[in-house]
Amino acid sequence: MSINPKTKFKDFYKYILPLYSPQNKIPVKGYGSTIWVQDGRDYIDFSGGIAVNALGHSNPVLLEALKEQSKKVWHVSNSYTNEPSLCLAKKLVKNTFADKVFFCSSGAEANEAALKLSRRYAYNHFGSKKNIIISFKKSFHGRTFFTVNVGGKNNYSHGFGPSPFCIIHAEFNNIQNFRKVINNYTCAVIIEPIQGEGGINVANYSFLKQLRNLCKIYNALLIFDEVQCGMGRIGKLFTYMHFKIKPDIITLAKSIGCGFPLAAMLTTNKVGEAFSIGVHGSTYGGNPLACAVGNIAFDVISNKEVLSGVKRKNKLLKQHIKRINLEFNIFKEVRGLGLLIGIELNKNYINIGRKILKVAFENGLMLLNAGPNVLRLAPSLLISIEEIEEGMSRLYTTIKCIKQNFKYLEYLC
Ligand SMILES: Cc1ncc(COP(=O)(O)O)c(C=O)c1O
Repeated sequence: MSINPKTKFKDFYKYILPLYSPQNKIPVKGYGSTIWVQDGRDYIDFSGGIAVNALGHSNPVLLEALKEQSKKVWHVSNSYTNEPSLCLAKKLVKNTFADKVFFCSSGAEANEAALKLSRRYAYNHFGSKKNIIISFKKSFHGRTFFTVNVGGKNNYSHGFGPSPFCIIHAEFNNIQNFRKVINNYTCAVIIEPIQGEGGINVANYSFLKQLRNLCKIYNALLIFDEVQCGMGRIGKLFTYMHFKIKPDIITLAKSIGCGFPLAAMLTTNKVGEAFSIGVHGSTYGGNPLACAVGNIAFDVISNKEVLSGVKRKNKLLKQHIKRINLEFNIFKEVRGLGLLIGIELNKNYINIGRKILKVAFENGLMLLNAGPNVLRLAPSLLISIEEIEEGMSRLYTTIKCIKQNFKYLEYLC
């Protein structure tokens, strides 16, 4: 039985808290990097569910893993362990600097765990006064009360009463500023090596290197939030490998579960020892269904050809973006690595990022923004060349529409 899309869309505002403003069509089916909505129209997905659908929609290999596990055991609680979580933890440890894994279900939870672990580690080793967390302006680490305050966007944390104490926001890629704020009371420094929500800002190698050294000097733990940029997204399995800088903790989510809610915090034995039975936990952490998907996702993503494909596709996307800009002169800069690409709009087009997403959607393209002035592309790592070509042709049409109808954009809400 088909449902009238208008009726169903009204239900969104009637029954769901108005925290989001979704596009006006409801996706009902997806395959690869193409999505179909209720009326049958197709869309090329350059958004990847905000860097989540790393292996596309309805990937048969993931479906099979989920189906197989669903016939065995769905959930057992952490009073027991389970095969998929043990297997995935082993893979993560074997392929990283880490010795131990904590599983949870979202990026915010992974960061919450990392921040709590850092405070507990400092408390155990250096006493209660070493509790300051340094993060960076424009950063985003999640929406729990702790992580949203650690994040560097005031508009997300404002208006919820007193904030947790001892959090400092330093300037991204500014080592002089950082040197002024780090001291013996700093327990952790958390950074996205590539800021996602903040506008696809890539950290400088020398900045990260000095951060690493200063953290060592002041006995502060260095946390890389790789929730958005990790797990193959930039053409390396993990972003810290690209920079060849070893943090003390990394956090993962999004691509690790390819759309199934799965997240993880990875650390060393030395740091992990600060957590003991009952100190932290999560009902769904290590869920067998999620980890079964995570296992297969890991195997596919760590394949060398998949990773080198990410770099090739980056080049192809950038060529198209350049070509579009040669004709329309609307982009100021293209940033990012692999399949996490940010396109900053030039000064004549500021603050229209969300409007461009609407026009793109009308033209059959799912895009993202990263702040009001940056368009973001975070498609599946397996996106095909044909899907890239088709998506870029739809981006061309979108930008042409923007250029021709610029003065009417203000009427678009
Ligand atoms: C870098 C980063 N950290 C943390 C989060 C929060 O993840 P989640 O929404 O799964 O809690 C996000 C989400 O976009 C993110 O991009």
